[in-house]
Amino acid sequence: MLQHVLSVNQYDRDSLSELFTKADFLRSMLPEDIYSRKKHKRIATIFYEPSTRTRLSFESAAQSLGMDVISTENAKEFSSASKGETVEDTVRTLGLYTNGIVMRHYITGSIAAASEVSEVPIINAGDGSGEHPTQAFLDLYTILRELGTIDNITIAMVGDLLYGRTVHSLTRVLKHYHNIMMYFVSPPVLAMPPDVLDDIKDVDNIRVEATENLADVLGKVDILYMTRIQRERFPTDEEYLKYKDIYTITPESLPQMRDNARILHPLPRVSEISTDIDTDPRAAYFRQAQNGLYLRMALLDQIIS
Ligand code: CP
Repeated sequence: MLQHVLSVNQYDRDSLSELFTKADFLRSMLPEDIYSRKKHKRIATIFYEPSTRTRLSFESAAQSLGMDVISTENAKEFSSASKGETVEDTVRTLGLYTNGIVMRHYITGSIAAASEVSEVPIINAGDGSGEHPTQAFLDLYTILRELGTIDNITIAMVGDLLYGRTVHSLTRVLKHYHNIMMYFVSPPVLAMPPDVLDDIKDVDNIRVEATENLADVLGKVDILYMTRIQRERFPTDEEYLKYKDIYTITPESLPQMRDNARILHPLPRVSEISTDIDTDPRAAYFRQAQNGLYLRMALLDQIIS
């Protein structure tokens, strides 16, 4: 059976643990010892929205496993979508050339819809403000590597919780871990959407508190998960400008945080994390981006056959 990766809801604690173990294994291997694992296989990366980390880490991961990669980075303009082709027809076609497709699209749900006609596995690399499952997997993998556990943690998710697909996926997937305290830090207009809250409302091991005030939670968290206020998701620029600098982490924030806390961010950042804190050992966001390479290597190794 084809194994599409569309939502974190397809995964449980055991399947996540298997993925993290494989990522650790591949990380420990010499490049020449993993290069033949997927030789003569090929994937397509097709992105209808911009990306640096997701596309290029998937491509690096595929090449490290010996695969070929074909790619369209600005598919909205440079694929036949610009001539009116549907995502379904594009997926049918790419399946004739490859063994798997990594896709980012600006319409929530479009990748899941296209997967129904796909002859090869499809990985959701972000669909509008819906989900970004592989980001959530690498976020958990980072928490595990940084703190040694994903259980019994307090996490604050900060910024654009309404449109932020990374925090939607991360919130949902944390239900597999014990004793999780989540602070949702945002202005009311950018609060976590009801469908995500519904998914965790009956989960005993998760407690949730929403607040507008970042200073109130800085000293309470093990993980501070910052997100960008996403200009491209706002209906008007005027609305975006009201919120763009609402939360920032600067050197002055650090003394309020626990010594063993970690600051994560899916990146790209704009103004929400000052570059002046990049050398603090708690700033883990570039280690997080590197973990994405090994995590995606593990995922491709599992699903591309
Ligand atoms: N975190 C993330 O999805 O980054 P990119 O948009 O650069 O892929």
